[in-house]
Amino acid sequence: MLDANWIHCKENIGDCVPLYKKDFKITHPIKSAFLYISARGVYEATMNGKRVGDFILAPGWTSYKHRIQYQKYDITDSILADNSLTVAVASGWYKGDIANWWSCAQNHQCAFIAKIEITYTDGTVSNIYTDTDWKAALSGYHFCDIYNGFIYDARLSPEFCLETVIAENNSKSELIEQVGEKIIEQERFKPTKIIETPKGETVIDFGQNLSGYVEISLTASSGDIISLSFAETLDRNGNFYKENYRTAKCQYTYICKDGKQTFKPTLTFYGYRYIRLDEYPIEVNADDFTSIAVYSELERTGYIETSDCLLNQLFSNTLWGQRSNFLDVPTDCPQRNERMGWRGDAQVFIRTASYNYNVNKFFEKWLDDMALNQSENGAIPMVVPFEKGCPNISAAWSDAVAICTWQLYLSYGNKEIIEKMFLPIKRWVDYITNTTTKPNLWFGGDHFCDWLELGAKEGQYTGDTRGDLIGSAFYAKSTEILCNIGLIIGQDVSNYQSLYKRIIEAFNNEFKDNYKTQTEHVLALAFDITKNPNQVIESLVKLIHDDGDKLQTGFVGTPYMLHVLSRYGYSELAYTLLLRKDYPSWIYPITKGATTIWEHWDGIKPDGEMWSSDMNSFNHYAYGAVIDWVYAVCGGINPVKASPGYEKVLISPISDSRIDWIKVELKTKYGVIKSAWSHKKGKTVYEITTPVKADVVIEGKYYTVDAGSYTF
Ligand code: BGC
Repeated sequence: MLDANWIHCKENIGDCVPLYKKDFKITHPIKSAFLYISARGVYEATMNGKRVGDFILAPGWTSYKHRIQYQKYDITDSILADNSLTVAVASGWYKGDIANWWSCAQNHQCAFIAKIEITYTDGTVSNIYTDTDWKAALSGYHFCDIYNGFIYDARLSPEFCLETVIAENNSKSELIEQVGEKIIEQERFKPTKIIETPKGETVIDFGQNLSGYVEISLTASSGDIISLSFAETLDRNGNFYKENYRTAKCQYTYICKDGKQTFKPTLTFYGYRYIRLDEYPIEVNADDFTSIAVYSELERTGYIETSDCLLNQLFSNTLWGQRSNFLDVPTDCPQRNERMGWRGDAQVFIRTASYNYNVNKFFEKWLDDMALNQSENGAIPMVVPFEKGCPNISAAWSDAVAICTWQLYLSYGNKEIIEKMFLPIKRWVDYITNTTTKPNLWFGGDHFCDWLELGAKEGQYTGDTRGDLIGSAFYAKSTEILCNIGLIIGQDVSNYQSLYKRIIEAFNNEFKDNYKTQTEHVLALAFDITKNPNQVIESLVKLIHDDGDKLQTGFVGTPYMLHVLSRYGYSELAYTLLLRKDYPSWIYPITKGATTIWEHWDGIKPDGEMWSSDMNSFNHYAYGAVIDWVYAVCGGINPVKASPGYEKVLISPISDSRIDWIKVELKTKYGVIKSAWSHKKGKTVYEITTPVKADVVIEGKYYTVDAGSYTF
């Protein structure tokens, strides 16, 4: 338990990052020593010169007004006779421009809290708590911020002469033990190219768009200034392009000390593939730069390999979209002045995410914050965490409360989450019921619609898909999930079962299967709302053909498109869309060199122009949602509602002659499921390994098999 005091510097040190210090002696043998620590902001602790733990940006991101995680580190091995613990505390998500986005952060005061618990070999325990005995100094950071980067002066040696005070808000009730995954350093990349651009700038390409930071290791003179800028892409002329970062300055300014030195800014992060050397007074040597990916520590569970290298790259781009946006909270993008826990993006992507990695704990933590941020009237805010009231309640975004919960149940058999979230989902469904202007439908809401749908007029983000239709379809979906959950956990949901029936009736009466866009068709089919699926699928297929066998969907329709096609017998068309290389398609960005998923189908247009600088991320995972179709239909690996968490599995691969072979693997708590197919001598051979009982469907034939390996 962390029962110390929150402290901060007595004097106002502006944007400087303070360094707190405690010296202490150990006079007799110890059995163990633990550090309990947290911050309002992000901290980095160093014990006797060695970093404590590997959690980057601790204590992580939660709805701080309700809960702040603390960490417990075993520091037994670092303890000496004379000890010194120093802790740097930067603003992180708690203060500054990023915090203003999601919280009422203007008056936030960064602070930190710690306890060192020492147990001696004779069994006695002594605790050292943060209090006003701790001194502080200005660290080398003149500022350090998530959107704006940092300035660090390595020449500065901290003088611990600043007084500390106990924070005005000394409440400990929000402190909780670590519930999420920690963020850690992951892959390291060396430069793949040093480019002299047409503008004469020196740019380094690390070959992979990601979130993290750059480590520099160099020999310099005291006062040499290293200044870098970050970008995800080059423009059509091969020049450095960072306009899409909008107001996020992403500064990286390091003032050198004398001699050999290595530095990395562990209290912030950037989204980038390229860096530009704005000031670099020493010889440029590729070996001196390392790009370090930083994201939540998740267990990798899903693997896809195919004979098609573009498809393999699409898979890799999706993995990197997930890695770059899973820093404790599922975010939209890691680079511009946003990086928020947008619910819509997360619900669109969660099926793919939960195949790629074990995201059970990661999403459970986020859903807990969502429940805490839900308003009295049941409204769910547009991003989570969010502490600013409740604007922008949107269909498909707010429905993340139901969709993400249900996915954790299906993928991991997580019963606790459906029990915890039953009430928030019920309150969300009630919110729609209480605010709609037309009973049994959701009319009158202010929605993000089919965000970034093609067909949007110049300068707009949405096209012709009707907000009221999306709202009503998701009203049905969330109500259906509520009923499913209620029945599993033994709650009376009869009223909601009748509501669900009424929604379906009302939807059919209102829209009469007269759907205007691809997304409208797709939702009616995917959510089983239409009573005439055969007619609606025909109409969808015609529309796709009329559109030139091209997608027109945005965030909301895209994830369901291929599922709907293959489910109704049009898997060949689904593969056509998946494999299409020209704009608009999933593969098109790869032909433009993408290493992550783009926010827009045409982030870079075929003529090399940018879509716009205003809303043009090159690392937005939403469209990567197509990968769940590759797992679930190409590979055919599906959870079964009645035995969730892959206690039983449905394996129903659908092959296509345009791909020679495919191998899909999923690690579950019951073992590894494998599904592969290849074309041999005019025949398709399917190889399946299942660790549990499985229903297998191969080319329309049904088999029930026990654990084992099978060839069909
Ligand atoms: C974000 C999106 C998000 C959207 C809501 C954007 O600014 O980047 O990914 O879902 O706003 O419409």
